[in-house]
Amino acid sequence: MEYKVLGKSGLRVSEICLGTMTFGNEASVEEAVKIMDYAYEIGINFIDTAHNYNKGVTEEIIGKWIGNRRKEIILATKVFFPSVQGVNREGLSKKNILISFEESLGRLNTDYVDILYLHHWDENTEIEYALEAVNTLILQGKVLYIGISNFSAWQIMKTIEVSKKHNWSVPICIQPMYSLLKRQVEVEILPLAQTEKLGVVPYNVLGAGMLTGKYLRGESGRLNENVMYQKRYGNPIYLEITQKFVKYAREKGISPAVLAPAWVKSHPGVTSILLGARNLMQFKELVKCMEVRLTKEEWEEISALSYQPPSPTDREPLEIYRLRGW
Ligand SMILES: NC(=O)c1ccc[n+]([C@@H]2O[C@H](COP(=O)([O-])OP(=O)(O)OC[C@H]3O[C@@H](n4cnc5c(N)ncnc54)[C@H](OP(=O)(O)O)[C@@H]3O)[C@@H](O)[C@H]2O)c1
Repeated sequence: MEYKVLGKSGLRVSEICLGTMTFGNEASVEEAVKIMDYAYEIGINFIDTAHNYNKGVTEEIIGKWIGNRRKEIILATKVFFPSVQGVNREGLSKKNILISFEESLGRLNTDYVDILYLHHWDENTEIEYALEAVNTLILQGKVLYIGISNFSAWQIMKTIEVSKKHNWSVPICIQPMYSLLKRQVEVEILPLAQTEKLGVVPYNVLGAGMLTGKYLRGESGRLNENVMYQKRYGNPIYLEITQKFVKYAREKGISPAVLAPAWVKSHPGVTSILLGARNLMQFKELVKCMEVRLTKEEWEEISALSYQPPSPTDREPLEIYRLRGW
């Protein structure tokens, strides 16, 4: 297993981060334990969960498993989405952050988490309040670092600047969606992360399973079961890209379920990729991506199977002016 430094934190995390969203739902407790045991055995030291996953059951499963492995594990959870009913039980208000986080700690059976992610931007909460709440937890030793997920580039930058203004802990990493099907992050977020030296831990690297090619083979999975994901990947362009990608992978003699995460992992801005599965068999296949090192040419060939997201401004690149002699 390779380990990389996460942003400027000094933390060394495995290049694979174990995603746990299926634990307690598609993956039974027994299967989740098998996946965690295997991940630990092969050197994965980075586990990702969230307050809302399966209404808290996922955190409980991890809490029961972790035991004396806790010191070796970089444990991350998130706050924003609700796991219980209540008008003030969602979002980034101080109240929700403090109450939800205490619940997460209890379920995870630990005194602290390494990273607490703000799971989503909250348009009703001034980011100062959210950061103040997390910094209180940092001062209490219950959180070591802040992460942010699903923020746009300006929201990430604002969060960093507000943290600096108050001499608070600056976020060390981001968790964006990124795959051959969803490349928006390449436009602003990945260059921003590289400039600010933020760790990057992408999720949905398989396009929720689509890029494995299983739906082309008539198999079933999350995209048959979950309306939100059907909507996210429902545009016919994703099917077209998947068909081209699966054909390319077959010609190279490599499983698309291995090549898809390998492509995300190859981006120089990416630190550790999130891999999640409903059973150990799926997970064992995914982690084979560790053995794949794409050349620049291969990365470009695979990228060309998809679309290039438009640049952040409509102005032509400077090279054009240089070629014209300004
Ligand atoms: N920050 C956020 O907002 C956010 C959002 C989502 C996820 N996450 C994190 O990222 C982790 C991974 O994300 P994800 O699960 O959404 O994305 P993903 O990696 O794109 O999809 C994983 C799904 O693909 C299918 N799959 C996996 N391995 C397979 C194989 N070998 N063959 C065929 N199908 C396979 C499984 O679903 P089926 O068997 O049902 O097809 C599995 O649950 C989560 O566990 C969670 O920790 C974070």
